[in-house]
Amino acid sequence: MIKHLLDIRSLNREQLLFLLENADKFCEVSERSLKKVPALRGKTIILLFLEPSTRTRASFEIAGKRLSADTINISASGSSVVKGESLYDTARTLEAMAPDILVMRHPQSGAAHFLSRILKYTAVVNAGDGMHEHPTQALLDCLTLKQFFNSKGQELQGKTVAIVGDILHSRVARSNIWAHLLLGNKVRLVGPPTLLPSDFSNMQVWGEHLSVHHRLADGIQGADVVMALRMQLERQKGHFISNTDEYSRYYGINESVLQRYAPDAVVMHPGPLNRGVELSSEVADGPRSLISKQVANGVAVRMAALFALAASRQEAELEAA
Ligand code: NCD
Repeated sequence: MIKHLLDIRSLNREQLLFLLENADKFCEVSERSLKKVPALRGKTIILLFLEPSTRTRASFEIAGKRLSADTINISASGSSVVKGESLYDTARTLEAMAPDILVMRHPQSGAAHFLSRILKYTAVVNAGDGMHEHPTQALLDCLTLKQFFNSKGQELQGKTVAIVGDILHSRVARSNIWAHLLLGNKVRLVGPPTLLPSDFSNMQVWGEHLSVHHRLADGIQGADVVMALRMQLERQKGHFISNTDEYSRYYGINESVLQRYAPDAVVMHPGPLNRGVELSSEVADGPRSLISKQVANGVAVRMAALFALAASRQEAELEAA
């Protein structure tokens, strides 16, 4: 039973596998000509996005609608947040309208946990909180890899996943680290020392299957998966890299680097992509790229997450009755 989906760190392996299996089943709904199931009919989902988003917001809304829920969108610019209303007051106001699930993206790390403590009756989904976590992104990345490896008759276990780029500021990296360690994969973090300190703060917490590399060649050598991350200039308050040209010279992923060091690797990127910085267009649009599949799977993963939260609320209500 999952009450809120705040991070991957607090999930156990069974819960992670359960969400991935359900998401796999929900993929089929998006292939129908009538893309709707009645599972969440009569439920209300509020999407509170206090940071920009294209794919995450759209896919949560589509997921809710494909499950027949009513979805409402609120963004910072059109809301009382610009008038200075606190998250506490915004949350209490929204809860007074009896939503079942509140999906939130927020610039501050820990905001989703804070929200889950304020709300009494509403399930919370973290759609990205600052530099902390982005659990549904890691779930959709894992689903995409599970489908890819299963199609080759392999399991998503015992693989080597290289995550390259601005690790320091990346909630996508943090959620993926937890997910891949739970799944039994090795994670290599790759990036310049300013964006990936060698004593990366949670190393000990993450354990022996995680390693840090400052040279691209060492980090991706023989990897099964190369996941490039966006250079998050909006979170970089100091000078973390001299310029994006230099970054791409040392850490940009292109076909010749892959041919040389990781010839069999598939390539992922959570988007939005800075073409020619993190990935060359040839790789992003080429046969190794799983980027479109990641986006497509975002809908199924979010359907599975919303469904699981609604189901556990129902169970709790039955128990209380
Ligand atoms: C990511 C995010 O917002 O954390 N994007 C996404 O949700 N697909 C990554 C990013 O912004 O670089």
